[in-house]
Amino acid sequence: MPEKLIGACVFGQSGGPTSVINASAYGVIRTALDAPEITGVYGAAHGIIGVLNDTLYDLGMEDAAELKLLLNTPSSELGSCRYKITGENDLARIHEVFSKHNIRYFFYNGGNDSMDTCHKVNDYMERVGYECRVIGVPKTIDNDLCGTDHCPGFGSAAKYVATTIAEVYKDAYVYDTGTVTVIEIMGRHAGWLTGSSALAGLTGFPPDLIYFPEIPFDMDSFLSKVETVYKAKNNCLVTVSEGIRSADGNFVAEAKVSATDGFGHAQLGGTAARLASAINSRTGAKVRGIELSLLQRCAAHLASQTDIDEAFLAGKFAVECAISGETGKMIALVRETRDGAYHCGVTSQPLSVCANMEKKVPREWISADGVGVTSEFIDYVLPLIQGENTRIIENGLPRFAKLRKIPVE
Ligand code: F6P
Repeated sequence: MPEKLIGACVFGQSGGPTSVINASAYGVIRTALDAPEITGVYGAAHGIIGVLNDTLYDLGMEDAAELKLLLNTPSSELGSCRYKITGENDLARIHEVFSKHNIRYFFYNGGNDSMDTCHKVNDYMERVGYECRVIGVPKTIDNDLCGTDHCPGFGSAAKYVATTIAEVYKDAYVYDTGTVTVIEIMGRHAGWLTGSSALAGLTGFPPDLIYFPEIPFDMDSFLSKVETVYKAKNNCLVTVSEGIRSADGNFVAEAKVSATDGFGHAQLGGTAARLASAINSRTGAKVRGIELSLLQRCAAHLASQTDIDEAFLAGKFAVECAISGETGKMIALVRETRDGAYHCGVTSQPLSVCANMEKKVPREWISADGVGVTSEFIDYVLPLIQGENTRIIENGLPRFAKLRKIPVE
């Protein structure tokens, strides 16, 4: 039994938000506030940047009811960053800030790049002999983290995508003249979210063609497939990943790149518009390119209750693991079947199996022709989109958390 570690904790959010990342925040914060070992619960402003700048909020000063609203509040409430720790200077500074506030627990909520940050912080603290327990909490709409069955944030985004595809399908069929609609979905290197558009088929209104980043993109083949469907149906609905690339590795979106983040990732976008224009030139059809962009990751109104519950559970379990002595771990969700029904368990995985790696959609879960999914894919995603969330509504609009964010002295 490891010795009790008494001290403060800091929690940070990193990378692109999801509609349930704040449910994990609430899981961490509530559990930490209730833990006798944890003497102060601090939030880092903009993730690790807030630690480096010593800009921390005292979350113990927040109203309990307001904190609970985090369960249904989208975006990263404490602010996020895409900052890559590059050298000893950053790590020494983090050590300095941790020592100043007697921070003995570090919880970091993010994707694979954020797990890299956790890994480096944990290694450094061990190296310099500063006792601090570091636990990563997974999140990402991309669902590409290794070591976990799925990621909090993905189920809600998948629910939004599948619902939106079915709704757009209904609209896209109204005119006698016919249209081609291309919908661009996030997920830079993995097509989990794009593939989830296939779940619209369960409503009877599926996309005709799905383009994954896992499969090299060929413009000629794309245009002839669209043309064939369009000629047959006088309509065609296509979903494409923002991350599709040609065999030479170039993103189709690259013409639109406007920025590169701290991890060297290009900001993608503009793929749907580009493809829509190519389709128009080839077929003369009325076309529309729609980029779901931020809408798919902040749509808290359509969040899956399963996803909210699992995001909360991941945050809560992170604190429990740390208190029981674990460090250098990421919380992982485990798919179980109980009495024939889906059940989500939790475990912890060494950060070394999660940091900097990406889990792609297995080729066998993509249909043989490369433009659809198999039943295994549907069976995997379906349990994750279940459950309608109950939210507090005021004036017909959602009531989101408004934290006071009182600085730690
Ligand atoms: O965090 C994942 C993600 O939402 C990706 O799907 C997307 O490519 C990326 O973030 C966009 O990042 P940003 O908001 O930093 O441009």
